[in-house]
Amino acid sequence: MICLPTDLEKITRLVCNIAREAGSYIRKERASFSLEKVERKHAHDYVSYVDKGSEKLIISALREVLPEAGFITEEGLATHSDEQMLWVVDPLDGTTNFIHQFAPYAVSIALIRGKEILVGVVYEIVADECYYAWQGGGAWKNESPIRVGQSDINDALVCLQYPYNSDAYKPVIKRLIDHFYGHVGSIRSIGSAAMALCYVAEGRLDAYVERYIGQWDYMAGALIVQEAGGQVTNYNGEAYFLEGDSVIATNGIIHQDILEGIRLSLT
Ligand code: IPD
Ligand code: CA
Ligand code: CA
Repeated sequence: MICLPTDLEKITRLVCNIAREAGSYIRKERASFSLEKVERKHAHDYVSYVDKGSEKLIISALREVLPEAGFITEEGLATHSDEQMLWVVDPLDGTTNFIHQFAPYAVSIALIRGKEILVGVVYEIVADECYYAWQGGGAWKNESPIRVGQSDINDALVCLQYPYNSDAYKPVIKRLIDHFYGHVGSIRSIGSAAMALCYVAEGRLDAYVERYIGQWDYMAGALIVQEAGGQVTNYNGEAYFLEGDSVIATNGIIHQDILEGIRLSLT
């Protein structure tokens, strides 16, 4: 039996193996995937048997690692009651990218206890890159340590995303683009919240901004950013973002500039 918290590194490595197994399943299914297999959850929010198959595989493997932990999962194939620890699982983050064979798309798994994120693992399937962190253990990609970038706001590569809730977010995203376009180095949108966070953690991006996302989208990536030396808050600048639906992750240097842009875009 595994005892916390000294075994966090061991748990993280087991979770990396599980994320890689789910990734292999997704890669194999992608080879014969076709548009007829896509279902709609809501307008423009897609899912398929691959998301559900990945989730099933992940849940049964995680139960072997920590039988006492409950689950928060995007597809809802497992749940929780009063367990102290919870697995937070997105079995396929970037489903729209997956459908279009457009990288990146990933598996995201976090372990949380109350307000703490203990473990975060994000496995990107196309590039075969596994990002991971455990509390106090630094952030890693495959076997190498990663750190956030050093850009200031003028040179920053900033990721603005387009969440599914377009009615509510359209006015905000328009103002965000208006504020940041020409003010930062450049703007990107990559279609995977988990991967945007990992790219901030390793300095490919300098900031990621998104609202109307779920805990499974950001929990693992948020720890990876923090352990890589970056800063994560909600849109109000509060460090406690775990129960909200908005996330800003940056290299730290530009956090206040990004918050200011958000403040202006919300008013
Ligand atoms: C979505 C992706 C997308 C983000 C959405 C998420 P899904 O997750 O992370 O980039 O903009 O807000 O819901 O549906 O592909 O798991
Ligand atoms: Ca997701
Ligand atoms: Ca998903």
